[in-house]
Amino acid sequence: MDERKATTLPRLAQMHARGEKIAMLTCYDAAFASLLDEAGVDMLLIGDSLGNVLQGRGSTAPVSLDDMVYHTTCVRRGVKWAFVVADLPFDSYHASREEAWKSSAALVKAGAHMVKLEGGGWTAETVRFISERGIPVCCHLGFTPQTVTSLGGFRVQGRDEAGAARMKRESQELIDAGAAMLLYEMVPAALAAEITAASPVPVIGIGAGVGTSGQVLVLHDMLNITPGKKPRFVKDFMTGKDSVKAAIQGYVTEVKARTFPVDAVHGF
Ligand code: KIV
Repeated sequence: MDERKATTLPRLAQMHARGEKIAMLTCYDAAFASLLDEAGVDMLLIGDSLGNVLQGRGSTAPVSLDDMVYHTTCVRRGVKWAFVVADLPFDSYHASREEAWKSSAALVKAGAHMVKLEGGGWTAETVRFISERGIPVCCHLGFTPQTVTSLGGFRVQGRDEAGAARMKRESQELIDAGAAMLLYEMVPAALAAEITAASPVPVIGIGAGVGTSGQVLVLHDMLNITPGKKPRFVKDFMTGKDSVKAAIQGYVTEVKARTFPVDAVHGF
């Protein structure tokens, strides 16, 4: 019998190269970490969405590095196999590359295998600084929740020619700087698929179509716990299931089988 092995960065790169889909979900505590891990989720993201989901805030901006360290510590205690990614929160990597390194190191000490930061352009030098010093970095492009105000609200990014060209250019700059993974949020499916096909590193999507290397959703959204209207790219995996574990397994199965997301339903 094949014993399950821990998910590593080379294994994720191999999955991307083979076209084997990667299933990722956000996670904020040890109990869910253990459940998601057992259900076969490849990657857990301690997202700064915890500001909305757990703290009841209107945005991710007030989330502190201490909050992220605390929840990363909790998640890591529940994990046996999954690859753990933690968000660098707003105002923890912007002032200098040294500040970014310190914040990243705090998350790694708390148990993260990789850190995620938002934005292209100016972040490339930060990505280079952190990754050259041994911490893998995932770069979040497209709709970036930390800068929702300057983006003018919850808008699809890369829709017009100039926006698409910019996303392609920034993706390449980040890869050249050492990014080990990209994550696109609310990006047209065709653009995300085109960039993924040419990318040497895995590309995870949320509202970016079925053509990325893998998918991520906010856990509380896909379990239909989040109150109010959900974004178009969310699917409720709890409907018709008799347990949370069955819902998570349903998500993993659908991501791997490419039946979620359906571009015409969940895409842009
Ligand atoms: O914080 C978060 O949950 C995220 C996902 C939306 C990808 O960054």
